[in-house]
Amino acid sequence: MNVLGIETSCDETGVAVYALGPGGPDGAAGLRAHAVYSQIALHAEYGGVVPELASRDHVRKLLPLIRQTLAEAGLAVEDIDGVAYTAGPGLVGALLVGAGVARSLAWALDVPAVGVHHMEGHLLAPLMEDTDTKPPFVALLVSGGHTQLVAVDAIGRYRLLGETLDDAAGEAFDKTAKLMGLPYPGGPQLAALAGEGRPGVFKFARPMTDRPGLDFSFSGLKTQVLLAWRDSDQSAQTRADIARAFEDAVVDTLAIKCGRALDATGFDTLVIAGGVGANQRLRARLQALAEKRGGRVSFPRPMFCTDNGAMIAFAGALRLQAGQHNDASVRVTPRWDM
Ligand code: KG4
Ligand code: ZN
Repeated sequence: MNVLGIETSCDETGVAVYALGPGGPDGAAGLRAHAVYSQIALHAEYGGVVPELASRDHVRKLLPLIRQTLAEAGLAVEDIDGVAYTAGPGLVGALLVGAGVARSLAWALDVPAVGVHHMEGHLLAPLMEDTDTKPPFVALLVSGGHTQLVAVDAIGRYRLLGETLDDAAGEAFDKTAKLMGLPYPGGPQLAALAGEGRPGVFKFARPMTDRPGLDFSFSGLKTQVLLAWRDSDQSAQTRADIARAFEDAVVDTLAIKCGRALDATGFDTLVIAGGVGANQRLRARLQALAEKRGGRVSFPRPMFCTDNGAMIAFAGALRLQAGQHNDASVRVTPRWDM
């Protein structure tokens, strides 16, 4: 079964084909092809994503990207057995582009279509290539819009253990980068800068780790950075030192809560998903945490941590395989709890 996946929830147009069981003409299963087009350059001069421009660019890029992905997979459009698309949460106009194309294609081909929750896509992404990891596990979802700890009892059975009360971890990275003058999107650049920073020169609090619980709060950290940066010499080395202290504070906080979530559930496997999962220091820290506990941690490759079509194709394929699909209406859910 070849499932076409379409992701257009924000500023990345993602397309992929995932084959379940004996797949395309050569019988191959797994991820057959994928492509992501990033709109970062388009939004850079505005310092953030402009929803209307995002929708228009998805319109421009989606069909060429589908053609390219099918060609790379060696498939004709008739070989598609199902279509999965991100139905939310996200920017409503951007979501509608993906939903409209997905539904039309499914209708024309007379195959089922299924709307996928963007965060379920992120959540299951590590399982796409790591066949050793199976539920139950604790998932840490860390993206630009979300920071959540989720107990995954089974695929489709999720319990929210904790979440951010204000900024998401990725949002904190982006806002902190911005206030130190780094261009949008600052998160990855801040992380690169932290690599040149000296540990311990600046010290920021680990928010909400001094009391029990699995919720997060990152907005205060941003204020601490603002004050430290304002009162500093604002040299390149100072910027790197502050970046390092900020990254250490976020990584520490996430690691402490992951440890607590494993304790609370009794699970020994941790799965990391979302854009911040591309952060090298976070990966190393959680790897060490898992090893110390005698458990394991699974990360998607960095390109599958950030928004992509492959995770939507994969999550959609699992849902279609379970017999789930939606009626033919083009409906999206910009705000949607998982
Ligand atoms: O999952 P994602 O691509 O988009 C959604 O938010 O759904 O995540 C993007 C977020 C951004 O906030 C970005 O700054 C952050 O992930 N990010 C990183 C790194 N790479 C991406 N944050 C810290 N370190 C990184 N290496
Ligand atoms: Zn995302």
